[in-house]
Amino acid sequence: MCGIVGYVGSQDSVPILLEGLRRLEYRGYDSAGVAILNGQGLVVQKAAGKIAVLEGLLNGSKPRGTLGIAHTRWATHGEPTTVNAHPHVDCKGNIAVAHNGIIENYVTLRKKLEEEGHRFTTDTDTETIAHLIEKYFEGNLERAVAAALRHVTGTYGIAVIARDDPGKIVGARHGSPLVVGICDSEYVLASDVSAIIRHTNQVVYLDDEEMVVLTPQGIHTTTIREETVSKRVETVDWDLEKIEKAGYAHFMLKEIFEQPQSLRNTLRGRLLAEEGTSRLGGLNMSPAELRAITRVVITACGTSWHAGMIGEYLIEELARIPVEVEYASEFRYRNPILEPGTVVIAVSQSGETADTLAAMREAKRRGARVLGVCNVVGSTIARESGGGVYIHAGPEIGVASTKAFTSQVAALALELTRELESIPDKIERILAGADKVKAIARAYARHNNFLYLGRGYNFPVALEGALKLKEISYIHAEGYPAAEMKHGPIALIDENMPVVFICTQDSAYEKVLNNMEEVRARRGKIIAIASEGDEHVATKADHVLYIPRVLGPLTPLLSVVPLQLLAYYIAVERKCDVDQPRNLAKSVTVE
Ligand code: F6R
Repeated sequence: MCGIVGYVGSQDSVPILLEGLRRLEYRGYDSAGVAILNGQGLVVQKAAGKIAVLEGLLNGSKPRGTLGIAHTRWATHGEPTTVNAHPHVDCKGNIAVAHNGIIENYVTLRKKLEEEGHRFTTDTDTETIAHLIEKYFEGNLERAVAAALRHVTGTYGIAVIARDDPGKIVGARHGSPLVVGICDSEYVLASDVSAIIRHTNQVVYLDDEEMVVLTPQGIHTTTIREETVSKRVETVDWDLEKIEKAGYAHFMLKEIFEQPQSLRNTLRGRLLAEEGTSRLGGLNMSPAELRAITRVVITACGTSWHAGMIGEYLIEELARIPVEVEYASEFRYRNPILEPGTVVIAVSQSGETADTLAAMREAKRRGARVLGVCNVVGSTIARESGGGVYIHAGPEIGVASTKAFTSQVAALALELTRELESIPDKIERILAGADKVKAIARAYARHNNFLYLGRGYNFPVALEGALKLKEISYIHAEGYPAAEMKHGPIALIDENMPVVFICTQDSAYEKVLNNMEEVRARRGKIIAIASEGDEHVATKADHVLYIPRVLGPLTPLLSVVPLQLLAYYIAVERKCDVDQPRNLAKSVTVE
């Protein structure tokens, strides 16, 4: 959801900024730009399209300078054109701003600034910040930025430079992440650590309403009310290798194949198999506090919401505590009931999703205890929750979430200690059969609609399978509880409708077989995900993809994998941009 990078030091900033943008491209990729300070003053270059287009432009014009900022955009206000690309400048071409977030009061601010004589040239909310800083600028950039931000409502992570106060980058955040990488006499500012890790693993995370000034001499952190704050330098345990494709055609495929290992990492040190229990050190709750939980609310978005649904089934079945799963974007605005004894669990791969963060803050404001299930260490949700679990799936770069889903489910399933240990090996067995999925994908890639059906623990998997297909192949797909089909969706079925059944041998098996018959009777094409050894299902389905047998509640960890592969191979067959699907961004930091 927009990526920002800034560099100050002794090297030419342009290649460093471009490399940083490429690392952040998964956050948005509809247009990009850089602003450099050098002997000629402020040089701004922007281009609509992916970063490669900007790169081509810069290869031609070759601007150089040891200080600069850059941005890759996911449009919110204004079409993705070159004019609307960031950085945005003020009237005098003195100040340049790169922004991630949404300025909610920009219409009022813009009207007032226009009345005061400022000339706007773009349709964006961000340009308002440039003019607002211009209004307060009296030679010191950080003072002007602080003054401007005190008038802004909404969310921002910004990087600002000024020709008339050169030698520094000013960064500030409220609601959108910003991290500073600390190297020897050079500093990198970025939306996340993937743009920093090539330079250093020493980082400082900014908190909301904090600012930072970066110069070749060091960094200085304050609040936007200009009070000095001292920040802890933290060590990031990622390395460059983890954010490369490692020979795979796409990050998504790499991440699907990484699942045996990412799950081992999620489980490492947490399974006490002999005692048949698990250890979750980060919960920060005593056994008595855990026993006092009377209700759980899980809040999340997208794939993480699907993982949360499986969490609901697991916790209700195993712990017998009532659970509700709420879309974070709905939860925060509907006056939720949170009595004492309710624990709220925010599930988020990135830990930066604006809706999930807002839901979590709302729950905290109402006095609830909030736990986070996050992947990105140091992310805002992880830092602001009272405790929780890191899933340790490693960086997930593909926009379509895969390994985070299985690790989130595993973290929520830690009650099933012994059986969980067998899951990584079982996923390896499924991955070994990827070619069979590829062949099915080839046969069905030209269909325009798919239905995904499952029951019980496999119902959220049906939703997740449909989501994966929609987002990367642009095929319309719907997930339903298999038994709901007869209440409406059955009208869609004819010989052109492939139906993916998740039909493992659990308590609803016979019922799902009946649903399969209903589809067959209407000449729908059936792709079944079934338990190894189930030959009966092959008499009903056109294609069967087998998964190893496993305890019912853990089935989603296996049944989702062929669906991830199916979506992937269909998207490749349709020549879609798998890692950067249209209109999407990995980390949705706006509401
Ligand atoms: C789908 C996908 C999204 C995310 C959602 C929440 O493949 O990636 O639906 O799951 O935007 O993101 P996180 O988990 O980072 O909060």
